[in-house]
Amino acid sequence: MKKTIKTVLIGAVAASAVALAGQEYVNINKDASSPELIKKEDLGAKKVVTEEELGLRGSGLNSAVGNLPPVEYKRPAPGAAPRFERSYVNAPPLIPHSIDGLVPITAKNNACLGCHMPAAAKGVGATPIPESHFTDFRPDTKLDKNGNIVKDGKIVVNATDVKIAKFKKLKRLNPARFNCTQCHVPQANVKPLVGNTFKPDFTSDKLKKRSNLIKVIDEGVQ
Ligand code: HEC
Ligand code: HEC
Repeated sequence: MKKTIKTVLIGAVAASAVALAGQEYVNINKDASSPELIKKEDLGAKKVVTEEELGLRGSGLNSAVGNLPPVEYKRPAPGAAPRFERSYVNAPPLIPHSIDGLVPITAKNNACLGCHMPAAAKGVGATPIPESHFTDFRPDTKLDKNGNIVKDGKIVVNATDVKIAKFKKLKRLNPARFNCTQCHVPQANVKPLVGNTFKPDFTSDKLKKRSNLIKVIDEGVQ
């Protein structure tokens, strides 16, 4: 991937040296053996983030040297942690509390359920797991005895042929949602990396703290 970008860059430089006489390029990679060329004017305007700045270890992204700065997970215990605003409408909420002693989640032990299953959540002041996690958005898929792919009762040629499956409400948590930390992540104190300038547009203040995915999942779908 990186090689391709470089080849394109260097190719472009070689070509533009002819087309754009006088355009100056600089190497922003300290490692002279793998030059990373950018227009000098872009560097001045700080439009470029160097590889060293991008990497958490302070060395180029492809470099194996450098040490990770200490990562501290220092959030309060469940029940004492102020919630984070959602990153955007219907983003998976960040875990505001410490997860010490709650992970790893294993097939036999998922501590998150004890507080977040709807029946328990109110009592402990936690946000209940939403309806979307008790829904199956995927078509029922099987092979019939002739080896055909059958999705929601219809034979299809390609596995991707059913575009929109019928949503099925489940009586229990969809197993695809069992591994909470696959999507919900705790927060640590780390050296700030590249600043994030993304500003979400919330359609209502309520959506800064709650999601409504199951109500809007069909919006715009024909
Ligand atoms: C002892 C009860 C308890 C356990 C166990 C627990 N939580 Fe929580 N969780 C809470 C409470 C209470 C809150 C509300 C914020 C607070 O008070 O810390 C919360 C908030 C959250 C939120 C933010 C919800 C929102 O609307 O912003 C997420 C996401 C979350 N927890 C995920 C998890 C995951 C994943 C696990 C398992 C690794 C877990 N929680 C285990 C009690 C718990
Ligand atoms: C495949 C990704 C994924 C997994 C796995 C997952 N979640 Fe979520 N979760 C989301 C997304 C996306 C949202 C926001 C949209 C929505 O409500 O579906 C969300 C929303 C939530 C909310 C906020 C509900 C609200 O009403 O605002 C809670 C609480 C939550 N999840 C808890 C959990 C817990 C606990 C687990 C593990 C049992 C879990 N989630 C597993 C993606 C996931």
